[in-house]
Amino acid sequence: MQQARLKPIKPTAQQAQASQVQVHLERQALLGLMASSVAHDLNNLLTVVLGNTNLAHRHIQSPEKIKVYLARIEEASKSATTLCQQMLGFAGGHSVRQEKRAHMPSVVQGMLCLLQASLHKHVHIKLDIEHVIPHVALEVSQIQQVVMNLVMNANQALHDQASGEIAVAVGVMNVNQTTAHHMPDIEGDGEYVYIEVKDNGCGIPDDIQHKIFSPLFTTKPSGSGLGLHIVLSIVYVSNK
Ligand SMILES: Nc1ncnc2c1ncn2[C@@H]1O[C@H](COP(=O)(O)OP(=O)(O)OP(=O)(O)O)[C@@H](O)[C@H]1O
Ligand SMILES: [Mg+2]
Repeated sequence: MQQARLKPIKPTAQQAQASQVQVHLERQALLGLMASSVAHDLNNLLTVVLGNTNLAHRHIQSPEKIKVYLARIEEASKSATTLCQQMLGFAGGHSVRQEKRAHMPSVVQGMLCLLQASLHKHVHIKLDIEHVIPHVALEVSQIQQVVMNLVMNANQALHDQASGEIAVAVGVMNVNQTTAHHMPDIEGDGEYVYIEVKDNGCGIPDDIQHKIFSPLFTTKPSGSGLGLHIVLSIVYVSNK
């Protein structure tokens, strides 16, 4: 048996310093994007808190209803805390671990209840869940972020509709070589759990479909263009 042994090349002090600076700059850029993404989703969660606070004020005479709104406010505040902890953990160089195992239907249902108060009055949600859905290797807060961003987009697309419908479905699909070609985030054949969010708004024009996942791409006057980028990052990382 022959073995080729290569002597490792030691970087010069200058090279080592340059690569440290590079790592530092990349980390700063990532922190910037992460901070914007966290601010974006905190803003969405605060909309949930405010929506439910308004409802609680309106139903101040009904303790049962107030209990429901308070529970939603608590849930949204917990999600906000998790987001902040993840951000602070990353900034401090350590990761904050949550269990990577979740039951998609319960998380989706919970999130839709939370979002209810932030939807336009004429918009209603239809939910369709397959009977048996296996657990997925995702943190609960990540699924919440995905649902929140997709449903918020659907709601915004329905703002001028007389009656809007957001149809949310959770199911299992088999992916193989033939079906995977238009799913670049998926590696390998097998069973995948999916979330589908459809709305009866005007749809996404063909000519912008290739841009919608790019960070900062938006067609809305007050949009930041981070929502779908966050969704794609979560799905992409979870499938690695
Ligand atoms: N359900 C939808 N209907 C029509 N267009 C959509 C829908 N979802 C996304 N888009 C298009 O994709 C673009 C990017 O969406 P994304 O969620 O990343 O950013 P945004 O919604 O514009 O801003 P932000 O999420 O920060 O509020 C939107 O500006 C819009 O043009
Ligand atoms: Mg959005």
